[in-house]
Amino acid sequence: MIVASTTDFREAARRRLPRFLFDYIDGGAFAEVTLGRNVDDLADIALRQRVLRDVSQLDLSTTLFGQRLELPIALAPIGLAGLNARRGECQAVRAADRAGIPFTLSTVSACPLDEVARAASRPFWFQLYMIRDRAFMRELLAQARQAGCSALVFTVDMPVPGTRYRDYRTGLAGAPGMKGAIWRFAQAALRPGWAWDVGLTGRPHALGNVAPVLKGRTGIEDFFAWMRANFDPTISWRDLEFIRSEWKGPLIIKGLLDPEDAREAAALGADGIIVSNHGGRQLDGVLSTARALPLIVDAVGDRLTVLADGGVRSGLDVVRMLALGARSVLLGRAWAYALGAQGEAGVTKLLELMAAEIRVAMALTGVTSISEINETILARTM
Ligand code: GLV
Repeated sequence: MIVASTTDFREAARRRLPRFLFDYIDGGAFAEVTLGRNVDDLADIALRQRVLRDVSQLDLSTTLFGQRLELPIALAPIGLAGLNARRGECQAVRAADRAGIPFTLSTVSACPLDEVARAASRPFWFQLYMIRDRAFMRELLAQARQAGCSALVFTVDMPVPGTRYRDYRTGLAGAPGMKGAIWRFAQAALRPGWAWDVGLTGRPHALGNVAPVLKGRTGIEDFFAWMRANFDPTISWRDLEFIRSEWKGPLIIKGLLDPEDAREAAALGADGIIVSNHGGRQLDGVLSTARALPLIVDAVGDRLTVLADGGVRSGLDVVRMLALGARSVLLGRAWAYALGAQGEAGVTKLLELMAAEIRVAMALTGVTSISEINETILARTM
């Protein structure tokens, strides 16, 4: 199929990826209400159309944590995304580097930190969860420092995994042993392009950063079992002090949706927060990020850098999030679809299309730089 717009990659990925991988990315928690709200509430944000403002020179660059970004975008951490294309995170980091934006490597990526560091030409960000084994966390942080990671994204909205029924239907989670493996094999057999590119020639399939603690158990069900047993539900604000003392570079707390939590994060000395409901993958029924974001910006926007994700599928959505107060936006599903559809070239094309869409939105709302995008470009409807 011809991919002409940022939103075409989803269908292209659906045609290329085995069902269990596509649904893992595409799906959300429970009835997927929040997943839908993220998209719908953002699409509802009306912009002002402005004219006659000389928009011949547009500057899409910005600065975050002392790092220049060519676009107000970072690629969000996505678990397992590296299985969407051969050595997928290495392909994605190259595309992010080419576009001049940060890539965030998930703890539960296919490619480990050192492999991604070899593929990267700029510093990337590393994402970490609270894991029961603090020594293992220290080890991962040491590897991230060694890899030259320029920021730590610490995810706090997953003390327990959300209820994602699609993953049970596809056999990705909860179908142990041979039954799950056979069911996934059947799905992969229907996608020969992926089966060759990743299934046969993209080994190893182990999740690189956690492989050492899985001790040779490489099945996807082993990983889910490890995750359920090792993500630490005792996590509290005190643990953030542990992270703050272990990581001296920029610390970005990911997964805040409530102004009171955002104030706690600011008090603990976080450099940034990501307003996020985990793409609607955790608690179904919570607010969309488009609605939560302005409340959080009001509460802490002058104390730390507020970023946001959730429902951003186009350059227009990026501009909407910035207008709601985000300093930059993280793309999640959008890049995972592009990687699944066309690998590195797909992610590069996605980012080019995003940039083009941002340009048009800036020109037609009458702004010429990212710092001019704020609530003044939002239309008052009443
Ligand atoms: C992991 O963070 C996931 O959402 O699956």
